[in-house]
Amino acid sequence: MNLFIKKPIESFESDMKKSELKRVLGKWSLTAIGIGAIIGGGIFVLTGTGAYYHAGPALALSFVFAGIACVFAALCYSEFASMIPVEGSAYAYAYGTIGELFAWIIGWGLILEYAMGSMTVAVSWSGYFNKLLHLFNLELPLYLTQDPSSYTGNGFSMNLPATLIVLLVTALLVKGTKEAAKANNIIVIMKVTAVLFVIVAGAFCIHVSNWHPFIPEATTIIREGKSVDAYGWSGVFSGAAAIFFAYVGFDAVSTQAGEAINPKKDVPFAIVASLLVCTVLYILVSLVLTGMINYTDFNPNGSYPDAIKAPVAYAFQIAGMNWASYIITIAATVGLISVLMVMMLGQSRIFLGMSKDGLIPKFFSDLHSTNKTPYKNTIFIGVVIALVAGFTPISTLADMTSFGTLFAFTMVCVAVWLLRVREPNLQRNFKVPALPVIAILGILINTVLMYKLSEDAKKLSAAWLAIGFVVYFLYSRHHSKLNNPKH
Ligand code: ALA
Repeated sequence: MNLFIKKPIESFESDMKKSELKRVLGKWSLTAIGIGAIIGGGIFVLTGTGAYYHAGPALALSFVFAGIACVFAALCYSEFASMIPVEGSAYAYAYGTIGELFAWIIGWGLILEYAMGSMTVAVSWSGYFNKLLHLFNLELPLYLTQDPSSYTGNGFSMNLPATLIVLLVTALLVKGTKEAAKANNIIVIMKVTAVLFVIVAGAFCIHVSNWHPFIPEATTIIREGKSVDAYGWSGVFSGAAAIFFAYVGFDAVSTQAGEAINPKKDVPFAIVASLLVCTVLYILVSLVLTGMINYTDFNPNGSYPDAIKAPVAYAFQIAGMNWASYIITIAATVGLISVLMVMMLGQSRIFLGMSKDGLIPKFFSDLHSTNKTPYKNTIFIGVVIALVAGFTPISTLADMTSFGTLFAFTMVCVAVWLLRVREPNLQRNFKVPALPVIAILGILINTVLMYKLSEDAKKLSAAWLAIGFVVYFLYSRHHSKLNNPKH
């Protein structure tokens, strides 16, 4: 039994030829999938925390650094996608380079990114949906909007909107990738328009004095009863970790290689293009926001405690544009649906790849006879996510999603470098420039961001990875097709 057995690169090619998934996604649909996954609640919610507890007006620099960490990883993903155009993303790349055990643990870590990310997104979608109803003077009873442990009343309760949205998205994904991509394209146009609206309308309300000092002097402030370091350059970096969730998603493009018309060219393009578009938008939003109101006004103990939870809506309210909160709430409610869709799609394609390799049961790779989607796996994922989102208090676990993502990014940077050294002559349609410098910087910056995440998230994520090892030794290594060719 070889824990470090590697899948030969040629066998990815033959897997690809055997693939029965329908190839329906072109370059722009893939780019829209990237943007669809990236722009979600993060930019509308985390900017307040980033500015108040970490970076002040230098939040824009936090977005630059987090963006750079992502660009390094995106380049490395792109090189792999141009060589190994299959659906497993970082899991598949590690299988071809570092070996089975690492690939498994990366795949297991990706569950944090995609499945846990979906749960988090479903719960925040429910929050926006309730806010939207409220704007139109409608209200759902509390027992239908809160999970049992958050519910203060007696009797049954669940977060019904969170469960229903997951089931709806599941149905769409079972129907077909083309249908889901069409819905995604429309949503992406809506949410990019909303973000542009925030930038343009907000730009007229900037008071330049709010940007002085741009990097406030390092100090300590009180957060939830504890004294924590804030501001200065260290605040810029911890701010980058705090808002990293807003960038999560562009790598989902690489899970779609099995359905791309021309994966070797279009997937690398879409990864980089979607990330660049969102990085520019995010930097502009953070500049506008910290220019509109002073970062100290996001104080959760101040006169408007919700400022930190809904910073964009708050800034527009202060500027006398109450109506803008309608636009933001509608954009976030609709926009989060596509984040959920792409994340669930990504999770199902990663399971599909792992199942084809025998590391998880065959059930996960059965395709629907007409739609050609992995319907059993999609329904399984949908039901689990719907139940967890409906019945558990998951909303604080966004940091674990960032952990799973940063872990995968770091490993992809390692793997791309390893493969260049080991197999320099393989045909690569896209090459990371200045390797190994870019890979080393990617490894360093992604590891620092992982380190800067909250202690609870790090501990829980480590525990999750430990469970992954147990599953591997109890099940996966005995069923691995590479390790057990006669199966
Ligand atoms: N980047 C996604 C969001 O901000 C996950 O919601």
